[in-house]
Amino acid sequence: MMEKACLRTCGGTPVLTYPLDQVRYKSDDGRLLEVFNPLPSFTPEQVTALREVFDMRLFSRNPVDKSGVWRYREFLSAFRPYDNVVTLFEGTTPIYSMPVCAAYAGMKELFVKHQGENPTGSFKDNGMTTAVTMAKKLGAHLVACASTGNTSASMAAYAARARMKSVVFIPQGQIAYGKLSQALDYGAITIQIDGDFDAAMSIVQDVCAQGNIYLLNSINPFRIEGQKTIMIELLHQLEWQAPDWVVVPGGNLGNCSSFGKAFDELLASGFIDRVPRIAVIQAEGANPLFQSFASGNRTLVPVHAATRATAIKIGNPVSFVKAWHAVDVSRGVVEQVTEEEIAIAKSRIGADGVGAEPASATTVAGCKKLVEKGVIRPDEKAVCILTGHLLKDPDYTVEFHRDELYLDAQHESSVTGTRKIDTRGFANTPVRLPADVKTILEYIDKRK
Ligand code: F0G
Repeated sequence: MMEKACLRTCGGTPVLTYPLDQVRYKSDDGRLLEVFNPLPSFTPEQVTALREVFDMRLFSRNPVDKSGVWRYREFLSAFRPYDNVVTLFEGTTPIYSMPVCAAYAGMKELFVKHQGENPTGSFKDNGMTTAVTMAKKLGAHLVACASTGNTSASMAAYAARARMKSVVFIPQGQIAYGKLSQALDYGAITIQIDGDFDAAMSIVQDVCAQGNIYLLNSINPFRIEGQKTIMIELLHQLEWQAPDWVVVPGGNLGNCSSFGKAFDELLASGFIDRVPRIAVIQAEGANPLFQSFASGNRTLVPVHAATRATAIKIGNPVSFVKAWHAVDVSRGVVEQVTEEEIAIAKSRIGADGVGAEPASATTVAGCKKLVEKGVIRPDEKAVCILTGHLLKDPDYTVEFHRDELYLDAQHESSVTGTRKIDTRGFANTPVRLPADVKTILEYIDKRK
């Protein structure tokens, strides 16, 4: 008899388990929980057959096949029987070859998987479809999260689809407008908290506990389940040949944790026999996992976060322990990059005709740094995970190209600050010209 899916503690002993329908995010002794997924030991014939099923589903019109998350439902047993799933046809995001970025990073070739091409413009949709589906199964009417913007946009959309009310907690003045506008339009009760993301994260946990509200941050193990399929889909797209590296930004550390869980399950069940190494990249001003990796001290020492990549402006990440597990299972590394490095890498992603929001650019910046350090070889195959769409944070992009990007930006009448981020000649500054054909053609001639 196969074991049943349940919630269980992640890391440490004793291993505590809880039923799936018990609303809880931590064990009685305060450890994070994960979904335990009983998987068979696949025979080679079963592996071939299931891979063919995944291929066939690419041509199906059935929503659970079209979704790049539910397509891989054999790895999502906690959600059986897969009826009533809340889906916006998330996933199925493209992989691009990025020649400009490859040259910039000093690699022969460099690939990105663009999770920003999801229905709400970020990778959060992969985890939100599963978490909101579970919220519905559990009978929740009210869901909440703290967010640097993308989680709230995604949660608000999926909650609206499921006819639930949502409440978002965001750090006042510290999230990008594209993201705020989404939460408002999808009808979320939007509460701006004085303080940073870490303060919002702390208060939302208390509000949910006392108000009987279902919490949808990545502390919720059902989010991680959906995000796990980003790696399954990536491997499917690469015909089950693992690349050498997967490079991912690290903020609250849910995403890299989910990748580790995917690799764990794929290896243990014999579905693949080799996994990529994970490189988690943090902004220098929000780098607790990097500091821990560099020092070898595995206790979380929170930092006061400062970065213009507001998506990852997080100093006290909730999934710290799980992230370490992901690094361990994949023989991974953790790196940090500066504000300048993020900004310039972002412009290179744009120069490839793809574009992404600032947090995503840590990946390309991280590749360059890891190549320089000799950790990634120039001929290795690396896939950077772009986590959010370029249009999420247009202010950042325009300020960069106007060469007025400040770490401590103030937006009163014009953008000012004291700590300017050096664009090192990569800014593509707009010009003002008179409406005169000759002058315009002369200018274009100079620039082309
Ligand atoms: N990239 C983007 C665009 C993000 O929005 C986030 C996280 C990350 C990377 C980091 O991922 O937290 O799983 O390590 N955004 C969260 C939010 C915190 O509230 O939208 P992580």
